[in-house]
Amino acid sequence: ISRRSFPKGFIFGTSSSSYQFEGAAAKGGRGPSIWDTFTHQYPDKITDKSNGDGACNSYHLYKEDVRIMKEMGMDAYRFSISWSRILPNGSLSGGVNREGINYYNNLINELLSKEVQPFATLFHFDTPQALEDKYKGFLSPNIINDYKDYAEICFKEFGDRVKHWITFNEPWNFCSMGYASGTMAPGRCSSWEKGKCRVGDSGREPYTACHHQLLAHAETVRLYKEKYQFTEEAIRQSPFIRDNNLNRRSAKALQKGRIGIILNSEWFVPFSQSKSSNDAARRVLDFMLGWFMDPLIRGDYPLSMRELVGNRLPEFSKEQSEMVKGAFDFIGLNYYASSYADNDPPSYGHNNSYNTDSHAKITGSRNGIPIGPQAASFWFYIYPEGLRELLLHIKENYGNPTIYITENGVDEINNKTMRLKEALKDDIRIEYYHKHLLALLSAMRDGANVKGYFAWSLLDNFEWSEGYTVRFGINFVDYDNGMKRYPKNSARWFKKFLRK
Ligand code: GCO
Repeated sequence: ISRRSFPKGFIFGTSSSSYQFEGAAAKGGRGPSIWDTFTHQYPDKITDKSNGDGACNSYHLYKEDVRIMKEMGMDAYRFSISWSRILPNGSLSGGVNREGINYYNNLINELLSKEVQPFATLFHFDTPQALEDKYKGFLSPNIINDYKDYAEICFKEFGDRVKHWITFNEPWNFCSMGYASGTMAPGRCSSWEKGKCRVGDSGREPYTACHHQLLAHAETVRLYKEKYQFTEEAIRQSPFIRDNNLNRRSAKALQKGRIGIILNSEWFVPFSQSKSSNDAARRVLDFMLGWFMDPLIRGDYPLSMRELVGNRLPEFSKEQSEMVKGAFDFIGLNYYASSYADNDPPSYGHNNSYNTDSHAKITGSRNGIPIGPQAASFWFYIYPEGLRELLLHIKENYGNPTIYITENGVDEINNKTMRLKEALKDDIRIEYYHKHLLALLSAMRDGANVKGYFAWSLLDNFEWSEGYTVRFGINFVDYDNGMKRYPKNSARWFKKFLRK
């Protein structure tokens, strides 16, 4: 298998995110985000009590990083823009930080000078702390306008060169870890776990926060299509543009990029052959993928969610539903692992914990046998077939949208005593990529409409609540010695794979 096994024009790249990569958290005029607060206020929530203050210092080493991508033969780079580096207090009223704009201009120009296409994510978990303080961030509908203002600055400043935009990364993760389990920023969970996290209402808050993300997403897509993208095709396809009295801009101003959203999902294998087990697997997929895909394709949440969550699930007005439906040019899919799912109605009712709403139990193994080999993280069971299944599920149930695999990859333990030479031998990772690329090809041969593939990740980096205890990079970062980067075997493998 090599690049030649894929259709012409298929894009290969690597992914990253601002808080996990940039470092320079308090430099260059950046305002704090909820991740700065979370890691500093609750260091116990991070396995090694670390934070992203320094991360892998891509803020200063971006040229080196672009050189590494080029050296491997990558076509594209997916990075995220830090909202509070652009708007230090989250909204326009606090002023735009030109130093932040300059940083991303430099990064984008460096990429283009090496013929690496920029894919820019506008939000990767890092709500500006000022907006969290002002109105509780995504729990308030006020976030929608502030987000739109921020996105528009990015379109204006970078849209002449960025042709692929992503509004949100993994709303599922953000809402369930941030507002139900409390393991990610802003660290809210239900009141009975008081003391371990900020008191929230985990029966409602995850749904509210994600409802606002979906609305912010759709409004931003509309804005982009009306004012910036404005291709003939966009006009034809878009329900909003058609009946709008638009002030047509000069052809030169049209950016003609593409805009989408990134969702993450596991694949769920029924624990047994029984109908109840099959139903549970389907339900839990609704609660992970359908939560967003159903609104984006059909304009409403899945029936199973509406039934089981009841009035804790916000409703779309007719107008909102029309706006969310079809609001994307592509879907980004992040896939890592799979699990078994079985029926599990909660015995105490289901009115106070998001995790139990799907009435399913999720496990990595069955009768002591794991669904696949376990990687470094506790949740991570390797199951390449899951990628194929998920893609075919999307094709069959959601009208075969254009897809980019925006993350896929595997972690290893950060073994501090291991010698560098050993750490570079990541044969597990080569096998992981090899098998997942085969599964991807097989799904594409069966009709899945996939246009590109991004590996997570270019470098070892700050892995959220696991801090630096695991390594996801295809390049090694020596955190103790000037953040020097070294290619692992998997980087060499990619180089060979990508050779033209
Ligand atoms: C995401 C992911 C990444 C993680 C990766 C490995 O939100 O896109 O959470 O940021 O680092 O998925 O777990």
